[in-house]
Amino acid sequence: MIRLAAAMLLTTSAALADDLKPIKDAGPYVPSPQSVVSDMLRYADVNDKDFLIDLGSGDGRIVLTAAKVFGARGFGVEIKEDLVKRANEAAKQEGVGDRVKFIKADLFKTDISQATIITMYLLPDTVNLLKDKFLTELKPGTRIVSHDYPLTGWIPEKYVQMDLEEKVKISGVTTTLIYLYIVPAKVAGNWQANMPAAISKQPATLSLKQQLTRVSGTLRLDGKELALEDPKLRGDKLTFRLPGRKGEFSGTVKDGAIEGTLDGKAPWSATLGG
Ligand SMILES: C[S@@+](CC[C@H](N)C(=O)[O-])C[C@H]1O[C@@H](n2cnc3c(N)ncnc32)[C@H](O)[C@@H]1O
Repeated sequence: MIRLAAAMLLTTSAALADDLKPIKDAGPYVPSPQSVVSDMLRYADVNDKDFLIDLGSGDGRIVLTAAKVFGARGFGVEIKEDLVKRANEAAKQEGVGDRVKFIKADLFKTDISQATIITMYLLPDTVNLLKDKFLTELKPGTRIVSHDYPLTGWIPEKYVQMDLEEKVKISGVTTTLIYLYIVPAKVAGNWQANMPAAISKQPATLSLKQQLTRVSGTLRLDGKELALEDPKLRGDKLTFRLPGRKGEFSGTVKDGAIEGTLDGKAPWSATLGG
């Protein structure tokens, strides 16, 4: 009982210490040019099923445009009260007050697990401080769009560079970059696999290593260790080939299991562990 009380005290004081930490300034208020907003949303392929969260939402233009043009829902989190008020008023005036809202909060402490799309225009060190939060809180397949600054070490799904005169007054140069990332499923480990009967009737072991979106691995099949060829992970979709064999294995990763097919026909599956 005493130990439990001590543990609770420690947890509570850690949470309190977290709350008392000064809010980190993730970047000054500089709105993205409207053409960049449109491009960011286009590259993210926003649709009416999406829930978009803009981290540091300024006047709300990204969330408002996603709702008005693409029918998305979502929210913006912003530390400056006047900007939050302005964005909420705009949402009402522009007829999307039922689909989006803006909250005054610290983006580092905001729960973002509901997002299917994250957008941000923040300082370079800040976007990188958010990497662990993204990997912990976001679902595999969630799209992350960053204006100007990359997530170091994370291979973007798409990367666009353009010149915009409007950017000179913001960053001193015309160069504008947009990065699109997709949150990968966690696949590292040993999987007990049942391959299509034409490949083997024996259980196989799929061993995968992972660094963000990069995967490599082997399949232990009928006593032989085969290095996976061209393994790729995009969100929750894994694909690979086997040496000396025709066809592509594809599969969807969910809750410690992979269900897939060889060339869209013969099924295979795997479960994590073992
Ligand atoms: C460069 S502006 C981007 C505005 C908007 N996302 C856009 O692209 O037009 C960055 C915004 O982040 C806000 N901000 C900075 N630190 C923050 C924090 N810790 N929590 C929430 N918002 C923050 C700033 O007040 C500013 O409005």
